[in-house]
Amino acid sequence: MKAAIGFTLGLALLVIACAGSTGDAPEGKTAPRGEQLYAMHCILCHGKDGKLGFNGAKDLTASTLTREQMRQQVAEGKGKMMPYKNVLTPKEIEAVVDYTRGLGKAR
Ligand code: HEC
Repeated sequence: MKAAIGFTLGLALLVIACAGSTGDAPEGKTAPRGEQLYAMHCILCHGKDGKLGFNGAKDLTASTLTREQMRQQVAEGKGKMMPYKNVLTPKEIEAVVDYTRGLGKAR
């Protein structure tokens, strides 16, 4: 009887361990992720290098916004730029802002 319980417990632990290993892509690699997100959501108006300025979009390489202001603007939108807080997760917004900041002098 004791052995049966031990076996069941062991099996349960094994299942939990396996479930944990099949997660998403590893965290912490925000740079490539940000580039992907930028390509998907931002290139249209801001261009690959951030300078396109389509439809009144700002030149991102010349932006003087702080990281926090940028995050805010991407989340809440401004003028003709739509808010992204319902499209991207806070983590994705962070990633795309990091990438955007890498385009210009602001680092
Ligand atoms: C529909 C076109 C459009 C798309 C798509 C778009 N933007 Fe914009 N963006 C704009 C416009 C227009 C402005 C200028 C807003 C204003 O100041 O009135 C702007 C401004 C900005 C600014 C502020 C720059 C500054 O110095 O004032 C940042 C940062 C920015 N966009 C980042 C992004 C990011 C990141 C994405 C993708 C998640 C994105 N934008 C997608 C149109 C767009």
